[in-house]
Amino acid sequence: MATPSTFKSRHVSKKASSFTESVIREMTREALKHGAVNLSQGFPDFSAPEDIKRKAMEAIANDINQYAITWGSKDFRDAITRKTKWYLDLDIDPETEVTVTCGSTEGMIAAMMATVDPGDEVIVFEPFYENYGPDAILSDATPRYVSLQAPDWTFDRDELRAAFNEKTKAVIVCNPNNPTGKVFTQDEMEYIAQLCQEFDALCFTDEIYEHILYPRDGADIRHISMAQIEGMRNRTVVVNSMSKTYSVTGWRVGYCIGPPEITSGVRKVHDFLTVGAAAPLQAAGAYALSLPAEYYDHLQTEYRVRRDLLVPVLEQNGFSTFVPDGAYYIMTDISAFGFNNDVEFTKYLIREIGVACVPGSSFYSVSQNGQQQVRFCFCKKDETLNRAAERLSKLRSRI
Ligand SMILES: Cc1ncc(COP(=O)(O)O)c(C=O)c1O
Repeated sequence: MATPSTFKSRHVSKKASSFTESVIREMTREALKHGAVNLSQGFPDFSAPEDIKRKAMEAIANDINQYAITWGSKDFRDAITRKTKWYLDLDIDPETEVTVTCGSTEGMIAAMMATVDPGDEVIVFEPFYENYGPDAILSDATPRYVSLQAPDWTFDRDELRAAFNEKTKAVIVCNPNNPTGKVFTQDEMEYIAQLCQEFDALCFTDEIYEHILYPRDGADIRHISMAQIEGMRNRTVVVNSMSKTYSVTGWRVGYCIGPPEITSGVRKVHDFLTVGAAAPLQAAGAYALSLPAEYYDHLQTEYRVRRDLLVPVLEQNGFSTFVPDGAYYIMTDISAFGFNNDVEFTKYLIREIGVACVPGSSFYSVSQNGQQQVRFCFCKKDETLNRAAERLSKLRSRI
């Protein structure tokens, strides 16, 4: 199924030869090929909000069709500044601390390329969002992995401390976390922050699921940005995006917030990588980021309903689930089905059952660690989730 791009060719760089194409995005192509319900790649199959779409169309009609300022249009940077003040209570300077990028994907790699030198190490919690591996290779960082341990995806503090050393340039924190659904606690964030300060390291924090949270009794589930933690504002790059919060993953509009010195590096890398993100979509972004609190409450309520639809479906059909506190993915354990590994299982699920998921091994540096896990996403219409439920019920005969 996988088409490894790790073939050796004298025309392909060592860097590009040393990672594969995205497994997540490949699963979408497999789903299309086999007519499977696609619960693999995290993009909504429902419409983006009408008013946000209208603002983008108006921007094009009003001729906002040329390059924006390379680090982002003023309106959009101002909106990012206001929203960051409202949501995170952080004062940021739109002139020196914000860079608008082509999605958080570009934001993360631009931040890494702007700060990391060959030989530097970057700490990555695993399971991880699969981009961080290639990001490390492309920016010449050596990744050091620290486990998030199921079922609650906590990390061992001694293991994390042991990963820090004089070569550590940064730690990547994805919070709320893809793929696990973990939401880091204040205590955990403070421990990571303490180590960053002790070892003079930066933190790249991927916060694109900041509004997708499922508070519950007995747990303090809230979004904490690393930039809010004492002593971290000047050593943190917050990477964020319109993709998930406004259901516009195809727009490719994201942003980085960081202290002026780092931002000037990020802006230079960004300028020569992409020049800038789509100008009319930044205009619509300025509108979207000014929406009232109710927008985010509604988003959260809708995602909770979707999560609570899919979790029992998976449980009833033989998966053990790790119920997420945030983001829109469910990691599952597939041991009950008796497959040798996650890739074999995923193939079977796509081709025989008609539902696509992502093999767990794509989230681990050592594939065996994920070989009895697969990830489902639930950013889909009820009818899509119900269609998946119907098909997944065929699995019952296997357990
Ligand atoms: C954790 C995480 N970061 C970044 C991205 C990519 O975001 P963007 O569309 O803003 O590039 C995704 C997409 O699934 C993600 O899950």
